[in-house]
Amino acid sequence: MIGNAQKYTLAMNMKLEAVLIDSSVIQKRVEELACRVAMDYGNDPPLLLPVLTGSFMFVADLARKLPFDAPLHFVKVSSYGSSTTSSGNVVVSGLERIDVSNKRILIIEDIVDTGHTIKALLEQIKQKGPRDVKVMSLLDKPERRQVEVQADYVGFVVPNKFVVGYGLDCDEHFRCLKDIYTISEE
Ligand code: IMP
Repeated sequence: MIGNAQKYTLAMNMKLEAVLIDSSVIQKRVEELACRVAMDYGNDPPLLLPVLTGSFMFVADLARKLPFDAPLHFVKVSSYGSSTTSSGNVVVSGLERIDVSNKRILIIEDIVDTGHTIKALLEQIKQKGPRDVKVMSLLDKPERRQVEVQADYVGFVVPNKFVVGYGLDCDEHFRCLKDIYTISEE
Protein backbone atom coordinates (compact mmCIF):
# COMPACT_ATOMS: atom_id res chain seq x y z
CA MET A 1 0.00 0.00 0.00
CA ILE A 2 2.83 2.37 0.84
CA GLY A 3 4.80 1.54 -2.36
CA ASN A 4 7.57 3.98 -3.21
CA ALA A 5 7.08 5.71 0.10
CA GLN A 6 8.94 2.88 1.83
CA LYS A 7 12.07 5.00 1.74
CA TYR A 8 10.45 7.27 4.24
CA THR A 9 10.91 4.87 7.09
CA LEU A 10 10.91 7.02 10.02
CA ALA A 11 13.28 8.49 12.44
CA MET A 12 10.62 9.41 14.91
CA ASN A 13 8.24 6.89 16.35
CA MET A 14 5.72 7.61 13.59
CA LYS A 15 5.16 5.55 10.46
CA LEU A 16 2.99 5.84 7.39
CA GLU A 17 -0.28 4.04 8.01
CA ALA A 18 -2.29 4.19 4.78
CA VAL A 19 -2.85 6.30 1.69
CA LEU A 20 -5.70 8.66 2.41
CA ILE A 21 -5.71 10.55 -0.89
CA ASP A 22 -3.96 9.21 -3.96
CA SER A 23 -1.92 11.60 -6.12
CA SER A 24 -4.19 11.13 -9.16
CA VAL A 25 -7.19 12.15 -7.04
CA ILE A 26 -5.25 15.15 -5.72
CA GLN A 27 -4.30 16.27 -9.23
CA LYS A 28 -7.89 15.99 -10.46
CA ARG A 29 -9.15 18.05 -7.54
CA VAL A 30 -6.44 20.69 -8.01
CA GLU A 31 -7.58 21.00 -11.62
CA GLU A 32 -11.17 21.54 -10.44
CA LEU A 33 -10.05 24.16 -7.92
CA ALA A 34 -8.08 25.99 -10.61
CA CYS A 35 -11.20 26.05 -12.79
CA ARG A 36 -13.25 27.47 -9.91
CA VAL A 37 -10.68 30.20 -9.31
CA ALA A 38 -10.53 31.01 -13.01
CA MET A 39 -14.32 31.36 -13.14
CA ASP A 40 -14.61 33.37 -9.93
CA TYR A 41 -11.80 35.83 -10.65
CA GLY A 42 -12.22 36.16 -14.41
CA ASN A 43 -10.00 38.91 -15.80
CA ASP A 44 -9.06 40.20 -12.36
CA PRO A 45 -6.53 37.67 -10.99
CA PRO A 46 -5.81 37.60 -7.26
CA LEU A 47 -2.44 37.89 -5.59
CA LEU A 48 -1.67 34.32 -4.50
CA LEU A 49 -0.44 34.16 -0.91
CA PRO A 50 0.72 30.62 -0.16
CA VAL A 51 1.61 29.80 3.43
CA LEU A 52 4.96 28.12 3.92
CA THR A 53 5.91 25.45 4.15
CA GLY A 54 3.02 23.04 3.84
CA SER A 55 1.38 24.58 0.77
CA PHE A 56 4.47 24.61 -1.48
CA MET A 57 3.51 21.56 -3.54
CA PHE A 58 -0.15 22.44 -3.73
CA VAL A 59 0.47 25.99 -4.92
CA ALA A 60 3.05 24.82 -7.47
CA ASP A 61 0.44 22.53 -9.04
CA LEU A 62 -2.41 24.99 -8.69
CA ALA A 63 -0.52 27.97 -10.13
CA ARG A 64 0.48 25.99 -13.22
CA LYS A 65 -3.16 25.13 -13.88
CA LEU A 66 -4.44 28.71 -13.65
CA PRO A 67 -5.23 30.32 -17.00
CA PHE A 68 -3.90 33.73 -15.93
CA ASP A 69 -0.66 35.29 -14.76
CA ALA A 70 -1.17 35.70 -11.02
CA PRO A 71 1.44 37.36 -8.81
CA LEU A 72 2.60 35.14 -5.93
CA HIS A 73 4.26 35.83 -2.59
CA PHE A 74 4.97 33.30 0.14
CA VAL A 75 4.32 34.11 3.77
CA LYS A 76 5.59 32.11 6.71
CA VAL A 77 3.43 31.37 9.70
CA SER A 78 4.90 29.95 12.87
CA SER A 79 2.76 28.68 15.62
CA TYR A 80 4.13 27.53 18.88
CA GLY A 81 2.63 24.18 19.76
CA SER A 82 3.74 20.56 19.54
CA SER A 83 4.69 18.81 16.30
CA THR A 84 1.12 17.66 15.73
CA THR A 85 -0.98 20.52 17.00
CA SER A 86 -0.86 24.30 16.73
CA SER A 87 -1.61 26.81 19.44
CA GLY A 88 -3.12 30.28 19.51
CA ASN A 89 0.36 31.90 19.41
CA VAL A 90 0.66 32.59 15.71
CA VAL A 91 3.44 34.75 14.25
CA VAL A 92 3.24 35.79 10.58
CA SER A 93 6.38 36.83 8.72
CA GLY A 94 6.81 38.08 5.17
CA LEU A 95 3.61 40.06 5.08
CA GLU A 96 5.44 43.31 5.83
CA ARG A 97 7.14 43.11 2.41
CA ILE A 98 3.91 42.70 0.45
CA ASP A 99 1.60 45.50 -0.63
CA VAL A 100 -1.88 44.04 -0.29
CA SER A 101 -3.80 47.31 -0.14
CA ASN A 102 -6.66 47.44 -2.59
CA LYS A 103 -5.65 44.03 -4.00
CA ARG A 104 -7.57 40.79 -4.30
CA ILE A 105 -5.86 38.25 -2.08
CA LEU A 106 -6.16 34.47 -2.25
CA ILE A 107 -4.47 32.76 0.69
CA ILE A 108 -3.34 29.21 -0.13
CA GLU A 109 -3.10 26.87 2.86
CA ASP A 110 -2.30 23.19 3.21
CA ILE A 111 -4.83 22.43 5.94
CA VAL A 112 -7.24 24.21 8.24
CA ASP A 113 -7.11 22.33 11.51
CA THR A 114 -7.85 24.25 14.75
CA GLY A 115 -8.27 27.37 12.59
CA HIS A 116 -5.87 29.55 14.64
CA THR A 117 -3.39 30.05 11.79
CA ILE A 118 -5.85 31.12 9.16
CA LYS A 119 -7.78 33.32 11.57
CA ALA A 120 -4.61 35.19 12.61
CA LEU A 121 -3.47 35.56 9.01
CA LEU A 122 -6.87 36.82 7.86
CA GLU A 123 -6.94 39.40 10.66
CA GLN A 124 -3.48 40.71 9.78
CA ILE A 125 -4.21 40.92 6.06
CA LYS A 126 -7.55 42.66 6.59
CA GLN A 127 -5.80 45.38 8.60
CA LYS A 128 -3.77 46.22 5.49
CA GLY A 129 -6.86 47.10 3.43
CA PRO A 130 -7.14 44.50 0.67
CA ARG A 131 -10.00 44.81 -1.83
CA ASP A 132 -11.07 41.29 -0.91
CA VAL A 133 -9.48 38.27 0.69
CA LYS A 134 -10.37 34.60 0.32
CA VAL A 135 -8.87 31.37 1.57
CA MET A 136 -8.20 28.18 -0.36
CA SER A 137 -7.16 25.17 1.68
CA LEU A 138 -6.20 21.84 0.19
CA LEU A 139 -7.51 20.06 3.29
CA ASP A 140 -10.07 20.84 5.96
CA LYS A 141 -10.28 19.00 9.28
CA PRO A 142 -13.49 20.49 10.71
CA GLU A 143 -13.69 18.14 13.72
CA ARG A 144 -10.64 19.85 15.21
CA ARG A 145 -11.81 23.44 14.86
CA GLN A 146 -11.31 25.68 17.91
CA VAL A 147 -12.11 29.04 16.31
CA GLU A 148 -14.82 29.89 13.85
CA VAL A 149 -13.25 30.09 10.42
CA GLN A 150 -14.04 28.51 7.09
CA ALA A 151 -12.03 28.36 3.87
CA ASP A 152 -13.80 29.63 0.75
CA TYR A 153 -12.36 26.79 -1.34
CA VAL A 154 -11.57 23.34 0.09
CA GLY A 155 -9.92 20.48 -1.73
CA PHE A 156 -10.84 17.63 0.62
CA VAL A 157 -12.48 17.29 4.01
CA VAL A 158 -10.39 14.87 6.07
CA PRO A 159 -11.11 12.94 9.26
CA ASN A 160 -9.61 13.79 12.63
CA LYS A 161 -6.26 12.11 11.96
CA PHE A 162 -2.79 13.53 11.46
CA VAL A 163 -1.96 13.50 7.75
CA VAL A 164 1.30 13.89 5.84
CA GLY A 165 2.58 14.09 2.28
CA TYR A 166 2.04 16.47 -0.64
CA GLY A 167 3.72 19.23 1.37
CA LEU A 168 2.40 18.31 4.80
CA ASP A 169 4.93 17.13 7.34
CA CYS A 170 5.35 15.64 10.76
CA ASP A 171 8.45 17.19 12.29
CA GLU A 172 9.81 17.86 8.76
CA HIS A 173 9.32 14.23 7.66
CA PHE A 174 7.11 12.99 4.80
CA ARG A 175 6.69 16.38 3.07
CA CYS A 176 7.83 15.26 -0.38
CA LEU A 177 5.49 12.32 -0.86
CA LYS A 178 3.13 12.70 -3.79
CA ASP A 179 0.15 11.11 -2.02
CA ILE A 180 -1.43 12.06 1.30
CA TYR A 181 -1.15 9.50 4.10
CA THR A 182 -2.35 8.97 7.62
CA ILE A 183 0.37 8.15 10.10
CA SER A 184 0.42 6.07 13.23
CA GLU A 185 2.76 5.33 16.10
CA GLU A 186 5.25 2.58 15.47
P1 IMP B 1 -4.26 25.25 12.58
O1 IMP B 1 -3.72 26.57 13.01
O2 IMP B 1 -4.49 24.33 13.74
O3 IMP B 1 -5.49 25.36 11.71
O4 IMP B 1 -3.16 24.49 11.77
C1 IMP B 1 -2.43 25.08 10.87
C2 IMP B 1 -1.16 24.35 10.53
O5 IMP B 1 -0.87 23.19 11.33
C3 IMP B 1 -1.28 23.85 9.12
O6 IMP B 1 -0.99 24.86 8.20
C4 IMP B 1 -0.28 22.72 9.13
O7 IMP B 1 1.00 23.23 8.85
C5 IMP B 1 -0.34 22.17 10.54
N1 IMP B 1 -1.21 20.97 10.58
C6 IMP B 1 -2.43 20.86 11.13
N2 IMP B 1 -2.92 19.61 10.97
C7 IMP B 1 -1.98 18.92 10.30
C8 IMP B 1 -1.89 17.58 9.81
O8 IMP B 1 -2.79 16.73 9.94
N3 IMP B 1 -0.75 17.27 9.16
C9 IMP B 1 0.28 18.14 8.96
N4 IMP B 1 0.23 19.40 9.37
C10 IMP B 1 -0.89 19.80 10.05
